[in-house]
Amino acid sequence: MDKLTIEGGVALRGSVRISGSKNAALPILLASILLDSPARFENIADLRDIRTTTRLLGVLGRPAHFDDGVVTVETGPLAPEAPYELVKTMRASVLVLGPLLARLGEARVAMPGGCAIGARPVDLHLSALEKMGARFDLEDGYIIGRCGRLRGAHIHFDFPTVGGTENLLMAAALAEGETVLENAAREPEVTDLARFLIKCGARIEGHGTSDIRIRGVDSLSGCTYRVMPDRIEAGTFLAAAGITDGDLILQDCPLEELDAATAKLIQMGMRIESTPEGVRARREEPGSPLRAADVTTRPYPGFPTDMQAQIMAMLCLAEGSSVITETIFENRFMHVQELVRMGADVRLSGHTAMVRGVARLTGAPVMASDLRASASLVLAGLAARGVTQVQRIYHLDRGYEHIEKKLEALGARIRREAE
Ligand code: UD1
Repeated sequence: MDKLTIEGGVALRGSVRISGSKNAALPILLASILLDSPARFENIADLRDIRTTTRLLGVLGRPAHFDDGVVTVETGPLAPEAPYELVKTMRASVLVLGPLLARLGEARVAMPGGCAIGARPVDLHLSALEKMGARFDLEDGYIIGRCGRLRGAHIHFDFPTVGGTENLLMAAALAEGETVLENAAREPEVTDLARFLIKCGARIEGHGTSDIRIRGVDSLSGCTYRVMPDRIEAGTFLAAAGITDGDLILQDCPLEELDAATAKLIQMGMRIESTPEGVRARREEPGSPLRAADVTTRPYPGFPTDMQAQIMAMLCLAEGSSVITETIFENRFMHVQELVRMGADVRLSGHTAMVRGVARLTGAPVMASDLRASASLVLAGLAARGVTQVQRIYHLDRGYEHIEKKLEALGARIRREAE
């Protein structure tokens, strides 16, 4: 397993291109299970989760080929089983349930793994699909689903689950009749999936709002689709500019989808502005301090849970005390103990972290435990005095394309080594 060694203290400068969104690409690629003809996907980041997804598609009868940011997916006879070997590393594999049931009337999906950030059940996915006529059994660690043709249904989500909304969008696209999703997730990645499905012939209205209406069609055909840029990668680079007191231009930065995060960063003392070259991010003045701010994670358009760990790294070095409340995942503070090892002053109480800003962090060997936690440790390492070794960057590689190369090009002293 690789580790990253970072010598902190360099203010990052220069221009970086934001990659295609991982969380948009995964459901969009898996939606090719629904298609009758080949499809081509552009702006696909070179990430472990993307490679896992193309392998999974191959196993399911949709041979997929990844080359230089483009994935092409062929059609072929579908197979119903998503094996444990692939699903265990990527929770998003559960998104094959909806499309497989819609196309085959059968799905066998190993219970999902992925980041260790809480229980993360899929009960909302299953009960919504049951309303459309599916039946589920759990056998030997597999979710086994069966159905005739799925029927449109009126579904109210107790919580606006991102994956649940995506699974249901795909299932309903080929169902008989109309499906209404209430309290659906409004995340931009859900909207990107809806746009792709519409381009393939689906009839969907209301995506981007809490109420989505889908009228099922008999078939969908492939097309060429460009996936949206990654708002969380973009937010992480904005944070990198802020924490290192640098000055960055982000090309292809989805600023509108980052409203909640940029509002916080501006409150904390950053300047973020659109320029003809891209989004420019720096502190109010070179050397001006970061200020404390309270942050509560919420479903979109609220502050994204996927940016919580990165903003905590910044708040560790801000003037004053901040309260961070995590409302989406029950166990998403695993970066805290590692930040404390670098000198941060963070106290946890249930879903809340109290962060008292300190004058400096010091480099230390730290362990990454999930994707965004790893990103926060890299940010802390970039700002810390001395050398930080981020071990087990396996998770980082699931979600950040060529992170050390991108950071190095901005001046960071960072290198990847085998442990
Ligand atoms: C997606 C994102 C992830 C992000 C999250 C919230 C992908 C691949 N992942 O994850 O990066 O952090 O949205 O923005 O797009 N829940 C249930 N039952 C369910 C489904 C979810 O209790 O059936 C709970 C989860 O345990 C979690 C919360 O709801 O506590 C949010 O989950 P959800 O919105 O479904 O997130 P994911 O789709 O897993």
